[in-house]
Amino acid sequence: MHVLALLDGTLADPTVPLLRVDDLGVMRGDGIFETILVVDGKPRELGPHLDRLARSAAMMDLPAPDRAAWERACQVVLDNWTGRPEHVLKLVMTRGVEGTGTPTEFALGMEIAPAVLRQRAEGIAAVTLERGFGPDVAERAPWLLLGAKSLSYAVNMAAVREAARRGADDVVFLASDGTVLEGPTSTVVAVHEGVLRTPPSTLGILPGTTQHALFRAAERTGRNVKVEPLTVPDLHAADGVFLCSSVRTVTRVHTLDGTRLTDSSDLHREMVELYQSEYQR
Ligand SMILES: Cc1ncc(COP(=O)(O)O)c(C=O)c1O
Repeated sequence: MHVLALLDGTLADPTVPLLRVDDLGVMRGDGIFETILVVDGKPRELGPHLDRLARSAAMMDLPAPDRAAWERACQVVLDNWTGRPEHVLKLVMTRGVEGTGTPTEFALGMEIAPAVLRQRAEGIAAVTLERGFGPDVAERAPWLLLGAKSLSYAVNMAAVREAARRGADDVVFLASDGTVLEGPTSTVVAVHEGVLRTPPSTLGILPGTTQHALFRAAERTGRNVKVEPLTVPDLHAADGVFLCSSVRTVTRVHTLDGTRLTDSSDLHREMVELYQSEYQR
């Protein structure tokens, strides 16, 4: 099931074409997006997602998103959703048709893919793959758009297919010096002796709203958190490695590059409870 809302606050038929074939979102993947989890009609981290949409737009010289219009479009989707209580809310903004200067924008309610629910419950095997950049390139070469949530995710999806060829479910990207970066659609969190650690976004990775919510909860409950570079040996030595993203929430990595990691089932349960506690207050 899909519910589609436009930025003027109207509903549109999701089965009817909306984009022109020469929309730059289609022609060049030139645009940005956000994926938000909705539970019982409440979007999680909507503010941070809209902040990040604005940040991505600025990084790509797109017009600043009209926040009030996005909030209204999101509400229209939520008000008209009749599917499962837990679902996806996707925001898309493209550069529109060349020369018009008018972005194409919509909010789309969708069901969660069954594979995502399975991975949440069962955990995943991941492989490390190099991204080909040094850890300091983001600042030197902003045109690479590292850390922007752009629509150009073909490379990220190709990495996931490579993982499947290697018998795994997902990927941990590494910088050219071996520094741990992020997953193609997730933030890496490793737990060592009760301390939650994640790589800094200065490495050219997307600041994750789920990781941020998890760390907020951890700090609130007196745990230590560290934002600092991680290496692959750090992941192998961890009590638990998790890939965090809005819809998958906190997913346990049970196997890395074919090696079984420390059994983190109990720690995973604890991390999920911690993350959920942010929304039960
Ligand atoms: C590259 C990348 N890193 C991290 C994340 C996790 O971000 P969030 O927790 O805000 O969904 C995503 C989300 O899709 C992503 O695409």
